[in-house]
Amino acid sequence: IPVDSFDLVVFGGTGDLARRKILPGLFRRFLAGQMPEDARIIGAARAEMDDAGFRALVAEAIGEFGGPASRKADELARFLDRLHYVAIDAKGDGGWPALAQAMRPDVVRAFYFSVAPALFGDLAERLHRHGIATPESRIVVEKPFGRDLASACALNATLAEHFTEHQIYRIDHYLGKETVQNLMAVRFANILFEPLWNARHVDHVQITVAETVGVDGRGSYYDKSGAMRDMVQNHLMQLLCLIAMEPPYRFDPDAVRDEKLKVIHALEPVRPEDIVRGQYRGAGKGTKGSYTDDAENRDSRTESYVALKVNIANWRWKGTPFYLRTGKKLRARASEIAIVFKEVPHSIFGEEEGWRENVLSIRLQPNEGMTLSVMIKEPGPGGMRLTEVPLDMSFADALGEDGTDIPDAYERLIMDVIRGNQTLFMRGDEVEAAWAWTDPIIAGWETRGDKPRGYDPGSSGPEDALMLLHRDGRRWREIR
Ligand code: BG6
Repeated sequence: IPVDSFDLVVFGGTGDLARRKILPGLFRRFLAGQMPEDARIIGAARAEMDDAGFRALVAEAIGEFGGPASRKADELARFLDRLHYVAIDAKGDGGWPALAQAMRPDVVRAFYFSVAPALFGDLAERLHRHGIATPESRIVVEKPFGRDLASACALNATLAEHFTEHQIYRIDHYLGKETVQNLMAVRFANILFEPLWNARHVDHVQITVAETVGVDGRGSYYDKSGAMRDMVQNHLMQLLCLIAMEPPYRFDPDAVRDEKLKVIHALEPVRPEDIVRGQYRGAGKGTKGSYTDDAENRDSRTESYVALKVNIANWRWKGTPFYLRTGKKLRARASEIAIVFKEVPHSIFGEEEGWRENVLSIRLQPNEGMTLSVMIKEPGPGGMRLTEVPLDMSFADALGEDGTDIPDAYERLIMDVIRGNQTLFMRGDEVEAAWAWTDPIIAGWETRGDKPRGYDPGSSGPEDALMLLHRDGRRWREIR
C-alpha cells in the first residue's frame, strides 16, 4: 500500500548509515511500489555537491549495499530522479534558506537526523528558525540516544524545545525486524500461549544476540560504549520488554509503549555476581585480532561481550529469570529468544524415555522464524520412547528462498514514520527508564575496577558466562 507523498530530508545523507541502510532501504520500498510517484528524498550534509553528485553517490551505495535489487537499472534511474541535495552548515546558517525553498507544502515532511547526537539540537533549532518544520513534521533520531540517564534527559529536553513527543521517532532498528513484530502477533493473536506465558509455566528466558563481526573501524565509538550501552540498554531491553509486557489494550503506539515502560520499571537492580563481561583476545591482549588492537586502545577495559541475569519483580515474572547475552567475534551470527518452559508436574514416562522441556525459539536472524519444540512418541514399534520434534512457524519460505525478500528493519521503520505510526519507536520516557536501570550497573563495575574476561574469537564467549546458568542448574543454548 503506497504511503502519502513526502519530502524526506536525510541529514548526514552522505554518511555511513545513509549509504548502508537508509538509501538502499528506500530504493527497495520504491521497487515494492510503496513510494508515491512524486515522493522526494533530499540529502543534506556539509559537503558541497549538486543533485547529480548525490545521485552518483547513492547509485554507488545501492550497488554496494542494495543486494540483488541494485541490478534493476531502469528502476534505479527512476528512483535516482527523486533525489536532491542541499549543502547545509549544521552550526551556521549556510544552506538553510535553500532547504526551506526546496520543501513542498502539503506533503509529509520528515527529517532524518543521521548525524552525531551533538548536532541534534542545532538541527532542531534551525529547522524552526528557518520555518522548515511544521507542527505535522516528523524527526527521526538514531541511537546512541545518550550514554547515560543524564545525557539522554538532556537530549530529550533539547528536542522537546522544538518538537512534541508525537513528532519524535527514536529508532531502535531491532523493533523493525520481521520476527520481532511476529512475536507480538504470536503472543496476542493466539489463545494458546498466553495462559502459559508466566512464571508458573516458564522456567526461564534466554535472549542471545551473537555477532561474528568485531569492532574494526568503529573502535573510537565502541570503546567509549561497550556491549552494555551499545546493545543491552536498547536492543536487548526492547526484546525483553516485548516478551515480558502485559497485553496492551490495543495495538496502538502509546498503549504498547506504556506496557513496555512498566516492564522496565519492574526490573530489579542487577547484582555484580549476575554479570559477566568479556573482551575478545586473540593470541593475547594487544595482539592482532584482539579487541584492544581493533579498538586501538591497549589498556581498554571496555566489554565486547556481556551476559547477565535479569529479574523482573512483578506478578507475572517473579521467579523466572531472563538471561541476556550479546557479544562480538563469537562463533556465529545468531540472534534468538528462547522461552524455556517448565517440566511437566509429574512424568508418567520416566527419565530414560528421553523427555526434554518445551522450548519456543524465536529466531531474529538468520533463518527468521519460530519453532516450538514438543515431545511426541518416537514412531515405530519400539515401545513408548519419547522424541522431540519442532513445530515450525518459519516464514522465510513465504518471503523468498533465503529470506532476502524480508524487508530490512530500516525500510519498514522509515515507512512507519511517513505513515505517522510510532508503535515501533521508543518514547522518551522509555529510553530514560532504560538508562536509569543501566547506569548503576555500569557505575558498579567502574567503581570496582572490574576487568573483562578474555575470550577467544570464534568461541561462544568467556567461560565464566557458562557459570551464570550452571549455578542455577541451567545451560545456555548453543550459538550456531
Ligand atoms: C547496532 C550496534 O545498533 O546494532 C552494532 O551499534 C551492532 O554494534 C548492530 O553490530 C547489530 O545489528 P544487526 O541488525 O546486524 O543485528
